[in-house]
Amino acid sequence: MALAAWSGGLHADEAPPLSRPHRLAAPAAPHPGAIASAYPLATQAGQEMLAHGGNAFDAAVAVSAALAVVEPTSSGLGGGGFYLLHRQSDGFETVVDAREKAPAAATRDMFLDSAGNPVPHASTVGPLAAGIPGEPAAFDYLARKFGKLPLKVSLQPAIRLAREGFPLYARLQGAIRYKREELIRSPDAARVFLTADGNVPEIGAMIKQPDLARTLETLADQGARGFYEGRIAQDLVNGVRAGGGIWTLADLASYRVVERKPLIGEYRGARIISAPPPSSGGVALLDALNILSGYDVAKMDSATRKHLVIEAMQRAYRDRAVYLGDPDFVKMPIAQLTSPDYAAGQRSSIRPDKAMPSDMLPGVETSPGGQDTTHISILDAQGNRVAATFSINLFFGAGDMVPKTGVLLNDTMDDFSIKPGTPNAFGLVGNAENAVAGNKRPLSSMTPSFIETPKGLMIIGSPGGSYIISMVILGTLDYLDGMNAGEVVAARRYHDQYLPDVVEYESGAFTDEEISRLQAMGHKLELSGRLWGNMEVITWDFASGKVAAASDPRGVGEGLVY
Ligand code: DON
Repeated sequence: MALAAWSGGLHADEAPPLSRPHRLAAPAAPHPGAIASAYPLATQAGQEMLAHGGNAFDAAVAVSAALAVVEPTSSGLGGGGFYLLHRQSDGFETVVDAREKAPAAATRDMFLDSAGNPVPHASTVGPLAAGIPGEPAAFDYLARKFGKLPLKVSLQPAIRLAREGFPLYARLQGAIRYKREELIRSPDAARVFLTADGNVPEIGAMIKQPDLARTLETLADQGARGFYEGRIAQDLVNGVRAGGGIWTLADLASYRVVERKPLIGEYRGARIISAPPPSSGGVALLDALNILSGYDVAKMDSATRKHLVIEAMQRAYRDRAVYLGDPDFVKMPIAQLTSPDYAAGQRSSIRPDKAMPSDMLPGVETSPGGQDTTHISILDAQGNRVAATFSINLFFGAGDMVPKTGVLLNDTMDDFSIKPGTPNAFGLVGNAENAVAGNKRPLSSMTPSFIETPKGLMIIGSPGGSYIISMVILGTLDYLDGMNAGEVVAARRYHDQYLPDVVEYESGAFTDEEISRLQAMGHKLELSGRLWGNMEVITWDFASGKVAAASDPRGVGEGLVY
């Protein structure tokens, strides 16, 4: 296969956006670049690229690759995700869909037993849970089509971090402790993340990944072909099949990223740009904001306002469950779901003083949990920008490191609806639209987004499984209310995903008075025992040129302005 074939993505446009001509933001003042990511060493890898004359897209490759090394719980070469890009020279906006796809041999009932019941953990642990990765193809595609630097340069920081190692930090140590039993079953993962006697290493111990360094080097030398064909592909297929998986060499060789038009909408004069299916993020974000646009929320008391946000979330998540899947496989009423007229219909079922029970909304037939995923926000001094969310799904993905490759397998097959009405690891349910099928991409909640107003811009996204969408909804409302980047990432969060029919909230998200008002309206409130998300936000004020970058205080990331 010709090397050039790897740079040929497809502009699939099954999900037409609400098209509206793009007005170019015209910044009046010079401005710096900024990067926010979930770990300082990764943010610094991006800074290195900007200093080398690279642009935001080169920085996105470097930051993502570094995260694959230093935040192996959350993303990696074995995973995939969505890169929302804006090129300032011509205003071109696109989403590089590097979502994992199911291997060709995948079937609708592959995670069910002979009685039709889900086999416990089959879609979350071990190689059968793994889709064909998209991230290496995304690196190649971004570098060739949008970047200024070759992968040999942009992958250098990641190669260095993998070969020389980085000191174990508390958050990663906690994840290793949490997943120790799983990691110990994968000899290659155990060698990297555990001590020789199978214990959790001390803080500061150097985590070295020589196999991953070699795989990254091959990718740097040969491009995507070096990963999806040849020795690495053979090692991946051998490792996956030895563990009960069903990958073939053809699955890897035929993987392609797909360029898709971003979904675009408007909310109170702001232009909202987000990811289309196979992510549900953009549809749900626009759906919820369209519902809210019919209310004068600024004039309402805070309990009524939060009630309406909850009702909007509930309806948007319901549509996600009922309608959405991979646009290359299913027809979806995207134009309808993102239209203000449809939202007006949804508003007619919302009462200002009373919660709507989810079972009164026609739909499908739960406990969230699990981590991890990662988001990066990047702006360069030319105005190019990237919002990218990518993942291997749960902590350390499927828990399996493929021998000789250093690649941790994802468990993204769990994002399919493995049986209609059966909740996945995030409590999400789905219909046949998101059933498993060979070569299909599972529905995602990742919501990398740009929020543009005449005055400024926000680049936003977060991990958090099903919670991602509600976090981005709240972040958007907060930004448009005047919060700065630091306030947006720190704000306390609440969440309604339609099913289960409860409103979960972080401590501090509601005042005591709001709690009693919301309960009186019929909301079932549940205080969450944990903190959600790891949001990365950049804001840019056009008039002053002021740029701010903030990483979620719930995590250990870093936002830097250069
Ligand atoms: O694509 C999705 O929706 C999930 N695989 C994301 C998983 C995730 O965010 C886990 N993080 N906490």
